[in-house]
Amino acid sequence: MCGIVGYIGNRKASNVLMEGLSKLEYRGYDSAGLALLEAGSIHTERSVGKLINLKEQISSRNFTANIGIGHTRWATHGKPSFENAHPHCSEGLAIVHNGIIENYLELKTMLKEKGYIFHSETDTEVVAHLIKSNYDGDLKDAVQHSLRQIIGSYGLAVISMSEPDMLIIGRKDSPLVIGIGDGEMFAASDIPAVLSYTREFVFLEEGDLAVLKKDSFVIYDNDGKSVNREVRMIDWNPVMAEKAGYNHFMQKEIYEQPRAIIDTIRGNYSLENSSVSFPDFNIIKDAVKDLNRIVIVACGTSWHAGLIAKFYIEKFAKMPVEVDIASEFRYRSLVIDEKTLFVAITQSGETADTLSALRVAKKMGAKIMSVCNVVGSSISRESDSVIYTHAGPEIGVASTKAFTTQVISLFMFAMFLGQERKILSRDECGRYLAEVVRLPEVIENVLSKDDLILSLAKQFKDASDFLYLGRNVNFPVALEGALKLKEISYIHAEGYAAGEMKHGPIALIDKTLPVFVLCPKSSVYEKVASNVEEVKTRDGIVIAVVTEGDEGLKDICDYMIEIPDIIEELSVFPTVVATQLFSYHCAHLLGLDVDQPRNLAKSVTVE
Ligand code: F6R
Repeated sequence: MCGIVGYIGNRKASNVLMEGLSKLEYRGYDSAGLALLEAGSIHTERSVGKLINLKEQISSRNFTANIGIGHTRWATHGKPSFENAHPHCSEGLAIVHNGIIENYLELKTMLKEKGYIFHSETDTEVVAHLIKSNYDGDLKDAVQHSLRQIIGSYGLAVISMSEPDMLIIGRKDSPLVIGIGDGEMFAASDIPAVLSYTREFVFLEEGDLAVLKKDSFVIYDNDGKSVNREVRMIDWNPVMAEKAGYNHFMQKEIYEQPRAIIDTIRGNYSLENSSVSFPDFNIIKDAVKDLNRIVIVACGTSWHAGLIAKFYIEKFAKMPVEVDIASEFRYRSLVIDEKTLFVAITQSGETADTLSALRVAKKMGAKIMSVCNVVGSSISRESDSVIYTHAGPEIGVASTKAFTTQVISLFMFAMFLGQERKILSRDECGRYLAEVVRLPEVIENVLSKDDLILSLAKQFKDASDFLYLGRNVNFPVALEGALKLKEISYIHAEGYAAGEMKHGPIALIDKTLPVFVLCPKSSVYEKVASNVEEVKTRDGIVIAVVTEGDEGLKDICDYMIEIPDIIEELSVFPTVVATQLFSYHCAHLLGLDVDQPRNLAKSVTVE
């Protein structure tokens, strides 16, 4: 969603804030702004559209302020406009905010009655005036008091003319970290924003408020007591958040997958003696024998990883698995108890729907595990156990390496469960592991077909619709392929279980419809091949992803992308990489903003 950055120190705050915002722009980008404590008073700059507009607006200004706050906005309350862009001010005080203030109308009425005048439609301006109305000589007390009056979620940062030596931040259901520097402090909704200045971070807990000064910070918990929070070293480096010669972050992240998968395996598991073990996995390990079912909950691409995990866990550990969309999960009569393992899959660790679902499951007694890419994120902190994917920062809005690292994590986890439950023998485990270590090379092979995939994209980028078909473990890849195409190229695409096609979508097939079929060597190869026949009989155009040397489909398909031979369970890696490259090239050829597609945000922190 929106991004926040704050600074207090000796540098020019405007430079730090603009650099931070450029790293956060992928979170939300319909407007941006900053507020500086310039020559003793609050100065704001705001602009609609991409950050470049704000950059141009301030390019000739030479600000000297050493304290300030900045924001990139993804609209929730109030359309994208200059008036609604953050920061919002109230007589010498400025605030930036992520989240939603649910009781803002009630507060607004109260503040209007007190004479406050509103210039925007946002809920954030209400908070600015609320803090001002509570100010009685102590900014921290005023912010604390105001946050107690607020119902909803917030990550916020406040500066004020009346106390120019401090930056106040607070969080509830919206991420916020303190970056610790030498004689300077940073605040950010996302680590990459300030990664070029520090690797030392403190993650605020729910309800925390912090007062940041140049040389110190104090954190107060929900009850107003001063508390110590752990300082963590983050091993991401700033270069990981740069494009490194690629045209787009998404392209770079697609190419990083062989490395990300190795890092994820190395970072989590020890593969001694043909078995899988998790060094830091005691809570779940002890609980494994008592568990009787697994409920996986996630959104979007992470949900697709969950659908693949169901195949793995059922096969290796013979446990019943349900996979739910997080935004649907809470609204059913849930059957969950202490014998349930609830698994949240989330790249960002901040997705509001997934976090809410986790909290419901926790209340009902479930053990909580998460698969997450961001250390210290809300979901990882609220889990009993976390498998961290070591994908590094994923900047492109469309998820690629986060997805494949989630899938390999879940594959390893399923094997671990299978071993613990004595279902998977050491020999079987050894055979699977021998295939796992081939994955980087298998993915490299698909990446080497980039030119072929580019030529297919050139041919089909103007199609108005696409169908993606797959069966068994490749059915979720069909969903993922279609999602990736629509989100970045805006081409309508549907993912379907290949066998389900004849129950409806077959009506769409004619000579104008390209059909992307995932048909590697597998237990369902013949079935998918007959679905390909059904498409061809109706003149559809088939682009098939097949295993090298496939002779069966050669004469039937229009185009083939060959992938190396690998066991069916792991074939999802090469098939999904082929779909990622195809979507990437279509979007790029269409001249679209690949890394920041319209209407989307990297982490969705509203329900
Ligand atoms: C699509 C995409 C989204 C996310 C979804 C969940 O490319 O990235 O569908 O997968 O918003 O986000 P996380 O994994 O952060 O919970």
